[in-house]
Amino acid sequence: MKGLKDKVVLISGTAGGQGRAAALAFAREGAKVLGCDVKVAEAEETVRMVTEAGGTMRSIQPLDLSDLDNAKDWAKVAYEEWGGIDVLYNNAGSLRSHGPFATSTVEDWDLTVKYELTMPYVTTLAVWPYLVARGAGLILSTASISGHLEFLPLRTAAHGATKAGVMGLTRMLAAEGSPHNIRAISISPGLIKSPTTARFWSGEDEAHTATGIGITANIPMGRPGECEEIAEVAVFLASDGASYINGTDILVDGGVSSCTFTPISGN
Ligand SMILES: NC(=O)c1ccc[n+]([C@@H]2O[C@H](COP(=O)([O-])OP(=O)(O)OC[C@H]3O[C@@H](n4cnc5c(N)ncnc54)[C@H](O)[C@@H]3O)[C@@H](O)[C@H]2O)c1
Repeated sequence: MKGLKDKVVLISGTAGGQGRAAALAFAREGAKVLGCDVKVAEAEETVRMVTEAGGTMRSIQPLDLSDLDNAKDWAKVAYEEWGGIDVLYNNAGSLRSHGPFATSTVEDWDLTVKYELTMPYVTTLAVWPYLVARGAGLILSTASISGHLEFLPLRTAAHGATKAGVMGLTRMLAAEGSPHNIRAISISPGLIKSPTTARFWSGEDEAHTATGIGITANIPMGRPGECEEIAEVAVFLASDGASYINGTDILVDGGVSSCTFTPISGN
């Protein structure tokens, strides 16, 4: 895709799922990728996969990116290695609770806010000066279908709140970034097959299997998405072809948000 060769792209949460798919996709386009994760072996495996495919990637692990000092250290690695930063992809996230609102806890709420809203905030704070210095850039953040709809099968108020927050943060970053030629966009995936949702189709747990079936029944395309289907959108948004897309959220959800009833199967 045009415009990504030698761009320095920071992707959080590259140990698997959408982060790994993004690392592979951006590297394939010629970008220099810096990843990170709290998981060591899986994050190193992503570097191996990217390198084996002929791409350029470095990664820091274990790294808890919810800490501002860690985020600053991470950004500095990219600057020292490649002289600047072009794209920050706030992909990492971790929700802590499922279940009815009445059974939710303040502890789970706080952890979800920390790992799904504070984390992209501190990471962006750490990377912002490098983008301003570059005079151009993109801040891409992962929101969610849960930030748009109640998405009842998941039943997590905190997750819905944080992902709506990511969209609000994105709008403010676009407004403040525009004078510096910095764009900000969020992507809202629908249900995506990744390590975090594997429990819905592993068949090991009845309640999770029922949730998986319940969610899938409400997807007009009749299937969950693949991590690569999000990664390809991220690559496009960072390319020259997306130069006028700014301050908005891109839903990649197989049609869930367009449909308020269980879709009809067959004709
Ligand atoms: N899978 C879905 O159905 C779905 C749907 C909507 C949105 N999302 C969002 O997509 C993003 C990617 O999730 P995924 O589906 O690939 O799941 P995932 O769990 O495989 O990926 C998230 C990665 O982030 C890492 N991470 C978590 N906390 C971290 C921290 N403090 N510091 C560094 N790394 C950390 C995890 O270790 C993991 O590797 C997340 O923001 C998630 O909320 C996922």
